Amino acid sequence: METIKEEIKELLNKLVSPYRLKHIMGVAYMSKILANLYGVSELKAEIAAFGHDLFRDVKPYRFLNMAKSYGLELSKVEVKNPILLHGKIAAEFLKKKYNICNDIYEAIYFHTSGCKCFNTNIIGKILFISDSIEPTRNYENVEYLRELAKRDIEKAYIEILKNKIIYAIEKKHLLLYETVEAWNYNIMEVE
Ligand SMILES: [Fe+2]
Ligand SMILES: [Fe+2]
Repeated sequence: METIKEEIKELLNKLVSPYRLKHIMGVAYMSKILANLYGVSELKAEIAAFGHDLFRDVKPYRFLNMAKSYGLELSKVEVKNPILLHGKIAAEFLKKKYNICNDIYEAIYFHTSGCKCFNTNIIGKILFISDSIEPTRNYENVEYLRELAKRDIEKAYIEILKNKIIYAIEKKHLLLYETVEAWNYNIMEVE
Protein backbone atom coordinates (compact mmCIF):
# COMPACT_ATOMS: atom_id res chain seq x y z
CA MET A 1 0.00 0.00 0.00
CA GLU A 2 2.97 2.31 0.56
CA THR A 3 3.62 2.15 -3.21
CA ILE A 4 0.03 3.13 -3.98
CA LYS A 5 0.47 6.20 -1.79
CA GLU A 6 3.67 7.21 -3.57
CA GLU A 7 2.15 6.68 -7.01
CA ILE A 8 -0.93 8.75 -6.16
CA LYS A 9 1.38 11.53 -4.97
CA GLU A 10 3.15 11.47 -8.33
CA LEU A 11 -0.19 11.65 -10.15
CA LEU A 12 -1.16 14.63 -8.01
CA ASN A 13 1.87 16.58 -9.19
CA LYS A 14 0.62 16.21 -12.75
CA LEU A 15 -3.11 16.71 -12.18
CA VAL A 16 -3.71 19.38 -9.57
CA SER A 17 -2.82 23.03 -9.06
CA PRO A 18 -0.33 24.09 -6.35
CA TYR A 19 -3.25 25.60 -4.43
CA ARG A 20 -5.12 22.27 -4.47
CA LEU A 21 -1.98 20.36 -3.57
CA LYS A 22 -1.60 22.45 -0.43
CA HIS A 23 -5.18 21.60 0.55
CA ILE A 24 -4.63 17.88 -0.13
CA MET A 25 -1.43 17.87 1.95
CA GLY A 26 -3.40 19.54 4.73
CA VAL A 27 -6.10 16.86 4.52
CA ALA A 28 -3.44 14.12 4.68
CA TYR A 29 -1.82 15.79 7.70
CA MET A 30 -5.16 16.03 9.54
CA SER A 31 -6.23 12.51 8.53
CA LYS A 32 -3.03 11.08 9.94
CA ILE A 33 -3.62 12.74 13.30
CA LEU A 34 -7.23 11.50 13.49
CA ALA A 35 -6.31 7.97 12.34
CA ASN A 36 -3.81 7.72 15.18
CA LEU A 37 -6.25 9.13 17.73
CA TYR A 38 -9.03 6.73 16.72
CA GLY A 39 -6.90 3.65 16.16
CA VAL A 40 -7.29 3.06 12.44
CA SER A 41 -4.67 2.60 9.72
CA GLU A 42 -2.69 5.78 9.18
CA LEU A 43 -1.74 4.61 5.69
CA LYS A 44 -5.36 3.98 4.66
CA ALA A 45 -6.38 7.42 5.91
CA GLU A 46 -3.49 8.99 4.00
CA ILE A 47 -4.31 7.17 0.76
CA ALA A 48 -7.93 8.35 1.03
CA ALA A 49 -6.69 11.91 1.60
CA PHE A 50 -4.20 11.90 -1.28
CA GLY A 51 -6.77 10.40 -3.65
CA HIS A 52 -9.89 12.38 -2.78
CA ASP A 53 -9.34 15.49 -4.95
CA LEU A 54 -7.21 13.85 -7.63
CA PHE A 55 -9.54 15.10 -10.40
CA ARG A 56 -10.78 18.26 -8.69
CA ASP A 57 -8.98 20.52 -11.20
CA VAL A 58 -10.12 18.65 -14.31
CA LYS A 59 -12.64 20.63 -16.38
CA PRO A 60 -16.07 19.59 -15.03
CA TYR A 61 -17.62 19.01 -18.48
CA ARG A 62 -15.28 16.04 -18.85
CA PHE A 63 -16.78 14.37 -15.80
CA LEU A 64 -19.99 13.40 -17.56
CA ASN A 65 -18.18 11.22 -20.10
CA MET A 66 -15.84 9.83 -17.47
CA ALA A 67 -18.84 8.94 -15.30
CA LYS A 68 -20.49 7.20 -18.23
CA SER A 69 -17.37 5.15 -18.92
CA TYR A 70 -17.40 3.95 -15.30
CA GLY A 71 -21.09 3.09 -15.59
CA LEU A 72 -22.15 5.53 -12.88
CA GLU A 73 -25.82 6.34 -12.64
CA LEU A 74 -26.08 10.09 -12.39
CA SER A 75 -28.66 12.07 -10.50
CA LYS A 76 -30.18 15.24 -11.99
CA VAL A 77 -28.22 17.22 -9.43
CA GLU A 78 -24.93 15.75 -10.71
CA VAL A 79 -25.82 16.31 -14.36
CA LYS A 80 -26.54 19.94 -13.57
CA ASN A 81 -23.40 20.32 -11.49
CA PRO A 82 -20.76 17.85 -12.74
CA ILE A 83 -17.98 19.09 -10.44
CA LEU A 84 -19.83 17.22 -7.70
CA LEU A 85 -18.70 14.02 -9.44
CA HIS A 86 -14.98 14.49 -8.82
CA GLY A 87 -14.98 12.18 -5.79
CA LYS A 88 -16.93 9.38 -7.42
CA ILE A 89 -14.66 9.47 -10.47
CA ALA A 90 -11.48 9.46 -8.40
CA ALA A 91 -12.78 6.47 -6.41
CA GLU A 92 -13.62 4.52 -9.58
CA PHE A 93 -10.27 5.38 -11.16
CA LEU A 94 -8.29 4.29 -8.09
CA LYS A 95 -10.30 1.11 -7.69
CA LYS A 96 -9.63 0.14 -11.27
CA LYS A 97 -5.93 1.07 -11.13
CA TYR A 98 -4.99 -0.13 -7.64
CA ASN A 99 -7.97 -2.15 -6.45
CA ILE A 100 -8.16 0.04 -3.31
CA CYS A 101 -10.09 -1.52 -0.43
CA ASN A 102 -13.72 -0.72 0.16
CA ASP A 103 -13.37 1.71 3.05
CA ILE A 104 -10.94 3.91 1.09
CA TYR A 105 -13.16 3.62 -1.99
CA GLU A 106 -16.28 4.70 -0.08
CA ALA A 107 -14.41 7.49 1.70
CA ILE A 108 -13.31 9.03 -1.60
CA TYR A 109 -16.55 8.26 -3.46
CA PHE A 110 -18.72 10.06 -0.90
CA HIS A 111 -16.33 12.73 0.38
CA THR A 112 -18.33 15.56 -1.23
CA SER A 113 -21.73 14.42 -0.01
CA GLY A 114 -21.21 12.42 3.14
CA CYS A 115 -22.82 8.98 3.34
CA LYS A 116 -24.86 6.95 5.77
CA CYS A 117 -22.08 4.37 5.29
CA PHE A 118 -19.68 6.67 7.17
CA ASN A 119 -21.40 5.67 10.38
CA THR A 120 -19.48 2.40 10.18
CA ASN A 121 -16.57 3.56 8.00
CA ILE A 122 -14.12 5.52 10.15
CA ILE A 123 -11.80 6.18 7.20
CA GLY A 124 -14.76 7.86 5.49
CA LYS A 125 -15.58 9.90 8.55
CA ILE A 126 -11.94 10.95 8.95
CA LEU A 127 -11.66 12.10 5.32
CA PHE A 128 -14.98 13.95 5.44
CA ILE A 129 -13.94 15.79 8.61
CA SER A 130 -10.32 16.45 7.57
CA ASP A 131 -11.48 17.91 4.26
CA SER A 132 -13.30 20.62 6.23
CA ILE A 133 -10.83 21.34 9.02
CA GLU A 134 -7.34 20.92 7.49
CA PRO A 135 -4.89 23.70 8.41
CA THR A 136 -5.48 25.92 5.36
CA ARG A 137 -9.26 26.10 5.98
CA ASN A 138 -10.30 29.36 7.53
CA TYR A 139 -13.87 30.08 8.63
CA GLU A 140 -15.64 31.17 11.76
CA ASN A 141 -15.87 28.02 13.91
CA VAL A 142 -13.07 25.96 12.34
CA GLU A 143 -10.94 26.08 15.49
CA TYR A 144 -13.84 24.67 17.53
CA LEU A 145 -14.36 21.88 14.97
CA ARG A 146 -10.65 21.00 15.05
CA GLU A 147 -10.82 20.63 18.79
CA LEU A 148 -14.12 18.70 18.63
CA ALA A 149 -12.75 16.27 16.01
CA LYS A 150 -9.94 15.30 18.37
CA ARG A 151 -12.34 14.86 21.31
CA ASP A 152 -15.46 13.35 19.74
CA ILE A 153 -15.34 12.18 16.13
CA GLU A 154 -19.08 11.38 15.95
CA LYS A 155 -20.12 14.84 17.06
CA ALA A 156 -17.61 16.49 14.73
CA TYR A 157 -18.94 14.47 11.79
CA ILE A 158 -22.57 15.43 12.45
CA GLU A 159 -21.65 19.05 13.07
CA ILE A 160 -19.74 19.30 9.76
CA LEU A 161 -22.56 17.57 7.88
CA LYS A 162 -25.00 20.05 9.43
CA ASN A 163 -22.80 23.03 8.51
CA LYS A 164 -22.53 21.84 4.90
CA ILE A 165 -26.31 21.53 4.62
CA ILE A 166 -26.92 24.96 6.15
CA TYR A 167 -24.27 26.53 3.89
CA ALA A 168 -25.81 24.93 0.77
CA ILE A 169 -29.29 26.14 1.70
CA GLU A 170 -28.11 29.66 2.46
CA LYS A 171 -26.25 29.84 -0.85
CA LYS A 172 -29.18 28.27 -2.71
CA HIS A 173 -26.91 25.42 -3.82
CA LEU A 174 -28.30 22.01 -4.67
CA LEU A 175 -28.17 19.32 -2.01
CA LEU A 176 -26.90 15.88 -3.03
CA TYR A 177 -29.31 13.04 -2.25
CA GLU A 178 -26.59 11.18 -0.37
CA THR A 179 -26.20 14.19 1.93
CA VAL A 180 -29.90 14.17 2.81
CA GLU A 181 -29.76 10.41 3.31
CA ALA A 182 -26.70 10.71 5.57
CA TRP A 183 -28.43 13.38 7.63
CA ASN A 184 -31.70 11.43 7.99
CA TYR A 185 -29.80 8.30 8.94
CA ASN A 186 -28.07 10.14 11.75
CA ILE A 187 -31.32 11.51 13.08
CA MET A 188 -33.15 8.19 12.90
CA GLU A 189 -30.46 5.72 13.90
CA VAL A 190 -27.87 7.55 15.93
CA GLU A 191 -29.36 10.45 17.93
FE1 LIG B 1 -13.34 17.24 -3.06
FE1 LIG C 1 -10.86 18.28 -0.64
